[in-house]
Amino acid sequence: MGLYSAYKQGLMGTWYWYVRKLNAAFPYKTVDGKKFAVFPGVYKPLENEHACADYCREGESVLDLGCGCGVGAIFCAEKAQSVVASDISAAAVKNTQANCETHGIDNVTVFESDMFEKVEGKFDLIVANPPYIAADFASDEQQFATSVRYLPLLFAGVHDHIQDHGRLLVQYPAWFKGSLVKLAKSHGMVLKETKRMPMKSVGLALLSLAYLQVGFRSTFFLFEPEQPRQQADAKTNVSQDRLAA
Ligand SMILES: C[S@@+](CC[C@H](N)C(=O)[O-])C[C@H]1O[C@@H](n2cnc3c(N)ncnc32)[C@H](O)[C@@H]1O
Repeated sequence: MGLYSAYKQGLMGTWYWYVRKLNAAFPYKTVDGKKFAVFPGVYKPLENEHACADYCREGESVLDLGCGCGVGAIFCAEKAQSVVASDISAAAVKNTQANCETHGIDNVTVFESDMFEKVEGKFDLIVANPPYIAADFASDEQQFATSVRYLPLLFAGVHDHIQDHGRLLVQYPAWFKGSLVKLAKSHGMVLKETKRMPMKSVGLALLSLAYLQVGFRSTFFLFEPEQPRQQADAKTNVSQDRLAA
């Protein structure tokens, strides 16, 4: 392991320990008037994540990939016909289930899955708030801020789970736009809209500071398939037929 990787491991390992203690001491977070329980090993929403629901249309099917405490799933569930909420972390799955119960939400199906592994079907909207830091931790409860797998697996699998005219909403820091768009494009997804997340209130900004979650500009990136899958496959087949002729 290089010096920089060792430094990142040490720093983020300490941060995970610190967040666990803070979450245990302050186990709730009110988001846009709704009170959410946030379990110790689960990401606390501090970036106005609930605003992902602005992209959800009435009656849609939604996938929240990496649901954490369930904030995105629960806000989308108010408009969506059905929501699938999955996470690699068993604690996050239990946390989302608990918050669905508290808020009387019954159109959200929650289960453990490593990215798309156990996800079936195609969705109108996929919401993804990936870990922002590229570092490799083994524990399932240490995947909410660090991962080297989330984004590559997201784009590698998205075509199998998005409707032809569906949308993928990714929340990520603004200054990674270039690499995000490049990765998306290499998997046939195009950027349709970029929007900064809503301004934080003073209270939320102070809480973010306490969690040492500062210094980046969270942004919504909305992607769509470049062309529907069947058309893309048909085009490839025609080219192959031409080559064979
Ligand atoms: C930044 S948190 C976002 C949580 C929630 N969506 C929110 O906005 O509050 C990232 C989430 O992705 C989950 N995650 C990370 N790697 C994953 C993987 N390989 N498969 C599924 N979920 C993963 C984490 O456990 C964590 O709950």
